[in-house]
Amino acid sequence: MAHLKTVSATTKNWSELPADVIAVGVFSKGELSPMAKDVDKTLGGQLQISIKNGDITGRKGESMIFYSEKHRLLAVGLGEKKNLDLEQIRRASGTAVKTAIRNKLANIFMEEFAQDKDGAAQAQAEGAILASYQFLDYKTMNKQNNFMLKKVTVRTWDRSGLKKGSLIANAVCFARDLGNHPGNVATPTKLAQEARKIGKRGKMRVRVFDRAKIIKMGMGGLAGVAAGTDEPPKFILMEYWGTKKTEKPKVLVGKGLTFDSGGISIKPASKMDEMKFDMCGSAVVLGAMHAIADLKPKVNVVAIVPSTENLNGAKAYKPGDILKAYNGKTIEVLNTDAEGRLILADALSYASKHYKPEYILDFATLTGAVVVALGYVATGIMGTDDTLIKKVKSSSKTTAERVWELPLWKEYCHQIRSKIADVKNIGAPMQAGTIAAGAFLKEFVKDGIPWCHFDIAGTAWNDSETDKGGVIREKPYTPIEGASGNIIRLVLDLIDA
Ligand code: BES
Ligand code: ZN
Ligand code: ZN
Repeated sequence: MAHLKTVSATTKNWSELPADVIAVGVFSKGELSPMAKDVDKTLGGQLQISIKNGDITGRKGESMIFYSEKHRLLAVGLGEKKNLDLEQIRRASGTAVKTAIRNKLANIFMEEFAQDKDGAAQAQAEGAILASYQFLDYKTMNKQNNFMLKKVTVRTWDRSGLKKGSLIANAVCFARDLGNHPGNVATPTKLAQEARKIGKRGKMRVRVFDRAKIIKMGMGGLAGVAAGTDEPPKFILMEYWGTKKTEKPKVLVGKGLTFDSGGISIKPASKMDEMKFDMCGSAVVLGAMHAIADLKPKVNVVAIVPSTENLNGAKAYKPGDILKAYNGKTIEVLNTDAEGRLILADALSYASKHYKPEYILDFATLTGAVVVALGYVATGIMGTDDTLIKKVKSSSKTTAERVWELPLWKEYCHQIRSKIADVKNIGAPMQAGTIAAGAFLKEFVKDGIPWCHFDIAGTAWNDSETDKGGVIREKPYTPIEGASGNIIRLVLDLIDA
């Protein structure tokens, strides 16, 4: 784990605290805040000169450092003043931190980019911490080259906003870590341990079912997928009761496939390593619970993580096998690589049977097809309840974590009917694979429970080699390599954390 833990608040002036660099914003046409003007004056007016010369314009993404004998000034572009929204604040804060790190400046004093704007301090803290994230756990050589940011201080009255942003960003960084750890470390057992730790901190009830219990309870989907690996599978349950028990809980379900080889329907070797990220759905859920443990919102939340590897051991399930899910429905397995939906089937059935959810959200790196449909830009969503989908879209706007709805029309739902079982685990070849997966999941959510499925296969991690269409460079607070921690902020906004 390597990232800044908190962003500190101060109401002192920039000259009263020690700092390696003072970060200020520049609006388009070179408009400066009073503080920016003041810092620049002390430095000798270099910033104003650069603006006059057109070297600095205040456009988004811009950043430059000015040096004087006593101080360093870091100017970041904020764009049009009237358009300054929370996402631009998050990005500018991220840009400032990234620039400071590149120049090995460890202690940053930042002005508040927007005063009297709801959520501005929170966004600024989020951007700073998320941008400071590095995953160095497995680098044992030349450690002295690893530069660590030490302190970020923002001048603001909104201490609690900074605190909230810091806690949320820490939860996202925790989820990134889970995603980035390889399959031999981030096992189902490890996910269960992390769930227990969060549970202890947040006074949650945590239960973990092992292989014997999973089989005994009739979770045939999870048991079927887990048959091919010796690594113990886990079914993880967390309950957070933050308000009256009579209030319906919001249920979060996450795919915890800690490595997906494809099973007998094996995947090609190239990039198979990336299937260590196939548990990023569970990282969204555990990340959200991590934040909930800190924020203690007055809501009820249940988290469910079915977790296993999908391997090719001697007892592995095979194409043609028929499994029975926890709700009694039979599933014809036609491709063992469509395993995520099988383990989610049990989790969604469990949520439907044992809770009266206000709604169920599930998160999964479920289909390669979602990348064909939406690229690496947006998470594909599907659901059964327009009000819930509307809420999801609204939280997506607030948090700048993009989602795009795909239709779950009945024509698609026919595609997963099996000739010999109730359903089959793939749809029609080469057609709407992401929707077919959604249609399959729908079979395991009890009628009447609002439900929304998030297919995060395109947004859960980044890889600079394929340079995901410029999406990565757009967001300076998201790492260009590895797990993104995307969608956690959206979930926290949605559940009013
Ligand atoms: N974990 C994969 C989906 C995936 C693929 C995520 C690429 C991220 C990048 C999932 O288990 C899977 O293999 N799905 C199959 C479904 C198909 C067999 C119907 C897929 O997308 O090819
Ligand atoms: Zn698969
Ligand atoms: Zn998978």
